[in-house]
Amino acid sequence: MSKTLIAPSILAADFARLGEEVRAVQAAGADWLHVDVMDGHFVPNITIGPDVVKALRPHVTIPIDVHLMITPADPFLDAFRDAGADILSVHPEAGPHLNRTLRHIRKIGAKAGVVFNPSTDPDVIEYMMDDVDLVLVMSVNPGFGGQSFMTSQLKKIEKLRAMIDASGKDIQLEVDGGVTALTAPQCIAAGATALVAGSAVFKGGADAYAANIRALRGA
Ligand code: DX5
Ligand code: ZN
Repeated sequence: MSKTLIAPSILAADFARLGEEVRAVQAAGADWLHVDVMDGHFVPNITIGPDVVKALRPHVTIPIDVHLMITPADPFLDAFRDAGADILSVHPEAGPHLNRTLRHIRKIGAKAGVVFNPSTDPDVIEYMMDDVDLVLVMSVNPGFGGQSFMTSQLKKIEKLRAMIDASGKDIQLEVDGGVTALTAPQCIAAGATALVAGSAVFKGGADAYAANIRALRGA
């Protein structure tokens, strides 16, 4: 069993010191950097755009995992890719042609991800496993960090694990929202291969980040 990938969400970092914060989590063992992009329309909060990804890119060498909570997403894919995003994930509700969006993401050289809200049925990707590199299960309603993990989503993780295994494809299964040292083992047991965590990583100051990340891996 390969090690669980940890993707700290910068939503919980100190926005006034973002460069320093991302260097600190990379040094602490982060595998990916998770960037939550919100438009105040698809979700009830506003965060950041491609310029911030571009500003952070030189500060880390790990992949930048961009979670787009925006609609429409299509007009912004190239800008995030040009800014240095390695993974671009979209919600199926964000546009009328999910498959076209996923193919475009791959065409511009990024990994293509699909994100499921707590109420979204993952069957939407049943016929496009060939075009997906990552699936992301939201274990909170998207929009804010620091919410409680919804155990109802464990079944969805299990379902996606089975779908991925049946496909035989190399697809990451990531979980996002309320992931802590207590909920991480449940996600891993259900089949997750990557965990997003904001509050659970960016707590206790930079000296604590390595221990926080280790605790999520269950090490
Ligand atoms: C929520 C975001 C998450 C969130 C995770 O919309 O997608 O990435 O920031 O934060 P925690 O780990 O604090 O739940
Ligand atoms: Zn996210």
